Amino acid sequence: MLLCQITDLHVTRPDTLACGRVDTARALRHAIAAINRWVPRPDAVIATGDLIDTPHPLEYEVLRACLGDLDIPLYLVVGNHDHREALRDAFPAHAYLRDGGEFVQYRIDLGPVTVLVLDTQDPPGAGGHLCDARLAWLDEQLLACAGRPTIIAMHHPPFETGIEFMDGYGLSAQGRAGFALVTSRYAHIERVICGHLHRSIQASVEGAPGIMASTCVSTAHQITLALASGAPGSITLEPPGFAMHLWQRGAGLRTHLAYVGPFEGPYTFEGESVS
Ligand SMILES: [Fe+2]
Ligand SMILES: [Fe+2]
Repeated sequence: MLLCQITDLHVTRPDTLACGRVDTARALRHAIAAINRWVPRPDAVIATGDLIDTPHPLEYEVLRACLGDLDIPLYLVVGNHDHREALRDAFPAHAYLRDGGEFVQYRIDLGPVTVLVLDTQDPPGAGGHLCDARLAWLDEQLLACAGRPTIIAMHHPPFETGIEFMDGYGLSAQGRAGFALVTSRYAHIERVICGHLHRSIQASVEGAPGIMASTCVSTAHQITLALASGAPGSITLEPPGFAMHLWQRGAGLRTHLAYVGPFEGPYTFEGESVS
C-alpha cells in the first residue's frame, strides 16, 4: 500500500500570492505532475489540510481545478485555513466529507490498511482542538478496525514541536491529552500523519510514547526552522515536497520524503562503490 501525503497547499485566488510572495497554485501543479509520474502509482493521495489560504470562495475553485489534474484517488482533510461547508460544496463528489456530521471525519480502507481522518479545526483560531465528540468517534473507529494496520491523519500534530511560534497555534493541551488517552489503548496504530508545520518532523505522541507521529513539508512554502526562544515566525522557500507512506506486510510503514524538482540526476552507479 502506497499512500502519498500532500499538505498545506494554501491555494490562493488568481493573481494573489500567499504571504504576498508564493504562487501556491503553481507549486501545487508542479507537485501533482511529479505525483502523477510516480512509479509505482500510489493507491491514494491524502491532502492533510490548509488546502486554501484565506478562505475566499474563488480559492476552492482554483483548488478543484488544480486537483482535477491528479489521476489518483484523492482524500481531503480540513486544516485551520479551511472552511468545512465551503469545502463540501466545492467537492460534491467527495461524499465522505459529510460522513462525520458536523466534523470532517471518515474512514478509508486501502487494501489491508485503514486510514482514520480526524478533524482538528477549532474556528476561528488557528490552533487545533479535539473535543469529546471527536475523540469518542476515534475510539469507536479504532475499536472497529482493531487488527488492521491503521494510520490516523489530522492537520494539527499531537505534539509540541519546539518551534515556539507554531506551538502557539498547536493542538490544545486538552486535545493532546485526550488523543494520547484514546490512542494509547490500541496496538494497531502504525503512524499519525499531520500537516500544519510546513516541515518534516517526527515525534512520539505526547502521553503515548509507543505511537509515532510525523508532519510533512508543504507543496508550497515552509515554516522557518526557528528553535530559539522568542524567535519570530517566518516562512522560507526551502524545497517543496510531499511524503510517500509505504506499508508492506512484515515491514510495516515507512515514510519517504520526496522533494519537488527539477533536480539534476539521477546518475546511475557504474562500477563505483555504492554508499
Ligand atoms: Fe499551513
Ligand atoms: Fe495549519
